[in-house]
Amino acid sequence: MTAAEIHTPVNLARTLELLGPALLRPDAVLVDATLGMGGHAQAFLERFPDLTLVGIDRDPEALAIAGARLARFGDRVRLVHAVYDEWPKVLAAAETQSVSGILFDLGVSSLQLDQVERGFSYSKDAPLDMRMDGTSSLTARHILAEYSELELRRIFYEYGEEKLAPRYASKIIARREHEPLETSAQLVDVIIAATPAAVQRAGHPAKRVFQALRIEVNQELAVLERAIPAAMDSLVVAGRIVVLSYQSLEDRIVKRIFAARSASTAPAGLPIELAEHRPLFSLLVRGAELAGEDEKAINPRATPVRLRAAERLLVRA
Ligand SMILES: C[S@@+](CC[C@H](N)C(=O)[O-])C[C@H]1O[C@@H](n2cnc3c(N)ncnc32)[C@H](O)[C@@H]1O
Repeated sequence: MTAAEIHTPVNLARTLELLGPALLRPDAVLVDATLGMGGHAQAFLERFPDLTLVGIDRDPEALAIAGARLARFGDRVRLVHAVYDEWPKVLAAAETQSVSGILFDLGVSSLQLDQVERGFSYSKDAPLDMRMDGTSSLTARHILAEYSELELRRIFYEYGEEKLAPRYASKIIARREHEPLETSAQLVDVIIAATPAAVQRAGHPAKRVFQALRIEVNQELAVLERAIPAAMDSLVVAGRIVVLSYQSLEDRIVKRIFAARSASTAPAGLPIELAEHRPLFSLLVRGAELAGEDEKAINPRATPVRLRAAERLLVRA
C-alpha cells in the first residue's frame, strides 16, 4: 500500500481552512510538527504553491515514507528527525526565527498502530516495545521489568486514568517474579485475570494500561508541555496554530496553554487595558471542536479528536 492509501489525514478540510489565512504570503513557512506519512503536508503543499514546509517526526520510518511521498515538492520541503520540543532545531531547518503556521496532529500514526511488531496494540500479540522512535532506548518491556510497584501505579493512574492501577501494578510485580513480561499477550493476560468480573469497563480492560505505557515510553505529555509554548512563541503576528488531540490528557495541556496566552493579564478593576496586558493570541474555535459526522464517516480515527486553534495577535518586545 502507498502512504496515501494507508492513511486519510484527520480533519484535513478544517485544518486547511483554519491555517490557510496565515499561509497566503509568498514567504510562508508551515511547521508540520507531526509529519507522519505526510498526508496533511501533501495537501498544504498542493493548496499553497509558495509554501515552504518543515516536517518533523521522531520516527525515522515515517520520515522516510513522507520524504518519498513529498519528493516532488523539491526544496519546498525540509524534513527533520526530532522530538517536537527540540524547537531550535526546527527553526534552524526553517532558516527563520518566526513561522507562519504550525500543525500538531498528536499521537501515533496509523502506520505505527498497524505495524503489529511495534507493540502498540493490546489486540495483537507482539513484543512490548511501543517506541515511536525505534532508535530511542526506553521500551514498555523495560518499564514493566524495572519500575517499582509505586511507579507503575503512578503511571497507570496519571497517564491511563486507570482506577484499578494499584491492583494491576501489584499483579504485574507478582507475575514478573515468575517470568519476564515480554509480549502484549502476556500483559493482557495479567490485566484480564486481575479485573473483577463485576467491573464494567468502557472498552478493552487493557486499553488504559497500554495508553499509560505508551505515554511513559515516549514521554508524550512532558514533551507536549514544553513544545506548545515554544511553538507559539515562534509564530509571526497573524500566524496560526492548530492542534489535534486524541485523548483528554493531551487536550487538557493544550487547553491550559491556549487559555493562558489568550487571556488579558490586566489586573481586575483597571479601567483600560494597557498594551502590555493585552493577550498574545486569540482563539479561533470555541472550546475543543469535535469532528463532524461526515468526517467520522470517512475517517473513524477522527472520532476522539479534539481540535483547538489560535492566532497570534501581537509580539511583545
Ligand atoms: C497522527 S500521526 C501524524 C499523521 C500526519 N498528520 C499525516 O497526515 O500523515 C503522528 C506522528 O507524530 C509523530 N510524533 C508523535 N509524537 C512526536 C514527538 N514528540 N515529536 C516528533 N514526532 C512525534 C509520530 O511518530 C507520528 O508519526
